[in-house]
Amino acid sequence: MPGKSKRRTPVKVSDLRMDELLRPIGDIKSLHVILTLRCNYRCAFCFQPNFRDDLPEHIWREKLTPLYPGLENVVLHGGEPTLVPAFREFCELINGRNDRVRFSLFTNGYKFDGYWAALMAGRGRFVNFSLNACTPETYARVNRRDHYHAVLDNVRRFRALAGDVAVDFSFVITAENLHEVPGFLRLAADHGVDRVRYFFDLDLLPPDRDEIRRTLDATAEIRRELPDLEVWGLEVFEGRVFGTPVASRHLESHGCRRTFDNLYVGVNGDASFCNFLGWSPIGNLNDSSLEEIWNSPGALAQRRAQDRGEWEFCTNAYCGPTEEHPVIGARRDTAARTADDRVLVPVEALLSRPDDR
Ligand SMILES: C[S@@+](CC[C@H](N)C(=O)[O-])C[C@H]1O[C@@H](n2cnc3c(N)ncnc32)[C@H](O)[C@@H]1O
Ligand code: SF4
Repeated sequence: MPGKSKRRTPVKVSDLRMDELLRPIGDIKSLHVILTLRCNYRCAFCFQPNFRDDLPEHIWREKLTPLYPGLENVVLHGGEPTLVPAFREFCELINGRNDRVRFSLFTNGYKFDGYWAALMAGRGRFVNFSLNACTPETYARVNRRDHYHAVLDNVRRFRALAGDVAVDFSFVITAENLHEVPGFLRLAADHGVDRVRYFFDLDLLPPDRDEIRRTLDATAEIRRELPDLEVWGLEVFEGRVFGTPVASRHLESHGCRRTFDNLYVGVNGDASFCNFLGWSPIGNLNDSSLEEIWNSPGALAQRRAQDRGEWEFCTNAYCGPTEEHPVIGARRDTAARTADDRVLVPVEALLSRPDDR
């Protein structure tokens, strides 16, 4: 189904020559952008540094335009994409140059109006509604807005239109909503959702490990009752909380080739291969061309490491070797090492950032 995570083949261990590591920008098939950090919500857990910055317009109106005709996927992150006219203009700019591209969207859903419903029903891959709760009370506490029913009304309207566009729900697990992790699956099933994503933040893990264990057991039971609902993120959450190995297929790094075809543009113009690699940008679009960035020394080092199946860049909350790695308890002011103690993991890389799963 469109919007479902692609089955990726495991990374082959090879050793590309330098000329093979250099890639044309035409290889970029997926573009992720944060056009603004502005938002109509102030979720208690939100990782944003502020709620005002915008991506300079020349970057998406000019710098990125050579990519638009060849893109297969555009993923809109924010800030809140439905709030800001620039997101509509950006989508229309791409639509005018590419009639095959599919859009995906992370949204709190409150302003998911007729425009967005029509765009996503016609050209969407997935719409992720960030709910984070399955009752109005908990919704108001964690999202700090009293819009639970209004958002679910928007979801129902869109579900009726969406056809084969995936409708996803997401939930950032914190101490305040842990008790609603199991019930969230039922809410999703009741709304015809295709996939539930559970995210977490290593800085905001619920402190009571016994309660987490009971919650995960209760959630596993409900999962068994809902075999058609795709659920992402609980295995990696469990592994990171309890310091246990996570099977490769549950990690974002499984078969990942993003250094070959993916570009993620942060609100300050930093370009990286994906949101998890935001700590190690391959360049900045304010002062470099796309070609310079895509084949910068940093880009080549990351591409080579990925091609070899090495982990010095791709170790974070959702990626990395399958073995246990002691990210638990990592804080912004500390560093952590992988299990084999060879690779120093920059602590920024340990911060949780949702992607296009
Ligand atoms: C920053 S939001 C931007 C898009 C939109 N405003 C939304 O909420 O969906 C993108 C995603 O990040 C998630 N998120 C926010 N803060 C987080 C955190 N501290 N840890 C993990 N995920 C987080 C949100 O729940 C949402 O699914
Ligand atoms: S709606 Fe999204 S961007 Fe806005 S505060 Fe919540 S998580 Fe952050």
